[in-house]
Amino acid sequence: MSTLQDRFGRRFSYLRLSVTDVCNFRCEYCLPNGYQGGGNDNRYGFLALDEIRRLVIAFTELGTWKVRLTGGEPSVRKDFPEIVRTLNAIPGVQRLAMTTNAYRLARDAGTLREAGIDAINISLDALDAERFERITGDRRFDNVMQGIEAALSAGFSSVKINAVLLRGLNDDQLPVFMEFVRDHPVSVRFIELMRTGTNADYFAQRHVGGAMVREMLDENGWTARERGPGDGPAVEYLHPDYRGTIGLIAPYAPGFCDSCNRLRVTARGGLRLCLFGHGAADLRPLLQHDHQREELKACIVDSLFAKTPGHRLHEGDFGHTPHLAMTGG
Ligand code: 5AD
Ligand code: SF4
Repeated sequence: MSTLQDRFGRRFSYLRLSVTDVCNFRCEYCLPNGYQGGGNDNRYGFLALDEIRRLVIAFTELGTWKVRLTGGEPSVRKDFPEIVRTLNAIPGVQRLAMTTNAYRLARDAGTLREAGIDAINISLDALDAERFERITGDRRFDNVMQGIEAALSAGFSSVKINAVLLRGLNDDQLPVFMEFVRDHPVSVRFIELMRTGTNADYFAQRHVGGAMVREMLDENGWTARERGPGDGPAVEYLHPDYRGTIGLIAPYAPGFCDSCNRLRVTARGGLRLCLFGHGAADLRPLLQHDHQREELKACIVDSLFAKTPGHRLHEGDFGHTPHLAMTGG
């Protein structure tokens, strides 16, 4: 069995799979005008259940054991629980996660847990209704908060909250988030805003570095956890008096890409070697029949040769990512 390894010795055990580009929120940094449809691409629609199944089987046979389902907003797909059940039945899938804006999680948490989701990441940039609406264009703050509580009751192995740091919009909310994790066993991860193809002005206005988070944590007695080999991109901070943890994801920090362990597939079957990479191998033609599996695996393995050592955001190269609803962040 060959495994997925690139020219720099990085191994890819983690697949982030988008199941739809559609999102019902309008986060200012992502889809400020809401989802606009897929243009010409729309002819083909999003990957069907069978295509998703074939794709994930191929990846697991190449050594992938963790799959995260993303969007867009994955739960807008009617067959989402069925997708989860199907993937959960694949023996190589040891950990099945999803990223959601949580708009219907209060209703779905139990179903999703039963269907086989192990871990859940919730995108939430502010802890009050007014800020929330300002950032997401959506009024369902209360639903999202109920969704978090439902997720905590449903027994997921981990519940995380992702908050994008935004100058002047939520950079004063750090103490509020800190208070939240005092009695909630969740990991709040602050993510530095990333430049994409369509958010240049917004980025210039709102990007703020993670140093302010580090300073606040230092001042309040939080300590950074030692990093292990399988860790994701977040540096996690712990405090004995708090049930939850706080993390920082700083994609502009040196060395950020060295521990990259993930590959992405778009909702239409494009393999993405980097969030900010160029182009993508189109895997879709190889997802049509079960007997194509070896050819599909060879295509994935060959594609990895083109993976670069890191993103080139510093050089002003954002790749072909108009916004993260395309690739699920
Ligand atoms: N920079 C940083 N994070 C982003 N996300 C979406 N767009 C950006 C961006 N430009 C986040 C979402 C969500 C995750 C999927 O990616 O807020 O938490
Ligand atoms: Fe939707 Fe997530 Fe983009 Fe917000 S960041 S618009 S929730 S895909």
